[in-house]
Amino acid sequence: MSIEHDYVAAHPGSERLYKRAGQVLPSGVTHDSRFMRPFPIYADHADGSRKWDVDGLEYVDYVMGHGALLLGHNYPVVTEAAQAQLAKGTHYGASQEKEIEWAEEVVRLVPSAEVVRFTSSGTEATLMALRLARAHTGRPGLIKFDRHFHGWHDYVAASSKYAGAIPAGVPRSTLESVAVVPLDMNAVRQAVEERGDVGAIIVESAGASSGTLPVPRGFLQELEVFTREREIVFIMDEVVTGFRWAPGGVQEVEGVRPDLTTLAKILAGGFPGGAVAGRREIMERLEFPQPGQKANKVGHPGTFNANPLSAAAGVACLRKIASGVHQQRAIEAARQLRAGMNAALCRLGIPGVVYGQASEFRIRLGGSFSPEPADYDPHDLPWDYLAEGNAPETDRLLHLAMANGGVHLFGAGGMTSSVHAANDIDQTVEAWGRALQALRSEGAL
Ligand SMILES: Cc1ncc(COP(=O)(O)O)c(C=O)c1O
Repeated sequence: MSIEHDYVAAHPGSERLYKRAGQVLPSGVTHDSRFMRPFPIYADHADGSRKWDVDGLEYVDYVMGHGALLLGHNYPVVTEAAQAQLAKGTHYGASQEKEIEWAEEVVRLVPSAEVVRFTSSGTEATLMALRLARAHTGRPGLIKFDRHFHGWHDYVAASSKYAGAIPAGVPRSTLESVAVVPLDMNAVRQAVEERGDVGAIIVESAGASSGTLPVPRGFLQELEVFTREREIVFIMDEVVTGFRWAPGGVQEVEGVRPDLTTLAKILAGGFPGGAVAGRREIMERLEFPQPGQKANKVGHPGTFNANPLSAAAGVACLRKIASGVHQQRAIEAARQLRAGMNAALCRLGIPGVVYGQASEFRIRLGGSFSPEPADYDPHDLPWDYLAEGNAPETDRLLHLAMANGGVHLFGAGGMTSSVHAANDIDQTVEAWGRALQALRSEGAL
């Protein structure tokens, strides 16, 4: 018996589907993060904090729609709004009131948002933000931070976990327009001086891989001051953190005001959708000129921009999460989870730590860190230790072992929703203890 043997034995339906998928889908998957050896689980349905696979097995879900589901699966007011919209049509090819309401909610919640443009994904949002910045400043250079992820388009492919050292298929000229620097103001200043063409700086607001490697305290504030002095467009990517850290995202918590903010995930209540929101002066680059004026606007079509279904779900979701109560519930669930998982590490004498910000948790196993049975904020942990990360095989076996225990992780960690309850946390901590023992008996720890 082994972790993998148990996993394979329990999931004949998923294995069958994975073999079929391999005939028509590269590596059998549709998102790189879902690739899993020997095969991923195939979901059948979901509700609240849980999902069920095609073999009838139930999981506490910590993928939560890749972070889109702050309210859990099928939250009633969101589902009802989407169902009502479905009955009225899914695409009018015309303007509609819901898109105005949606933008009004974004402006109400996100402190720096004056004007909003909707896209169909977070990737499209960062692409649009960078184009707006170039149009506004006339400077093509971009600074992004080491390992920060902003989607899969060409300008942000460098130093991303989903691309190699030299991202395949990305033109050299595009890569040359991007400087990748560490989270250090001296490095930022140096890159700006040396290049002389930097028009935008983009940052993953809570740090690389949604806070796995945190942004040092005070750094965002320094970045805000610096970019304002140099007239560089400061873009905070809040695709994950927006509406999750607080109704107004990291910028609300940190009191920072970027020029542009990119949003997606929770924005659309579990449906596809993204947005760029920001200062009117920059967003105006999207506006049509007055008759007689020269036309040099940033073009932006997009068949599914602010489509009625996403807009209806998005409005319902944003209204529901506006008070901050749901964020606090999810944050409390994650806090209890992190502390409970660290208590298990402690009890079993296994080195590692479970840490996180807001409603996320990240698992670092091995090395020389011995945790207390407590919650940990990554700002208080050794950077090099977190940056080293887990051995890929440890992550793989952990994922399989947790699935064997009825828990679906998102990479080496996950996100809670406001409907994760005490029984979810207890089941997860129990599964975690069993998974750790299984990993240890296989020599993976
Ligand atoms: C910080 C960040 N930016 C951008 C994106 C891209 O968003 P999407 O997957 O909707 O294209 C993601 C996706 O996970 C993200 O985490």
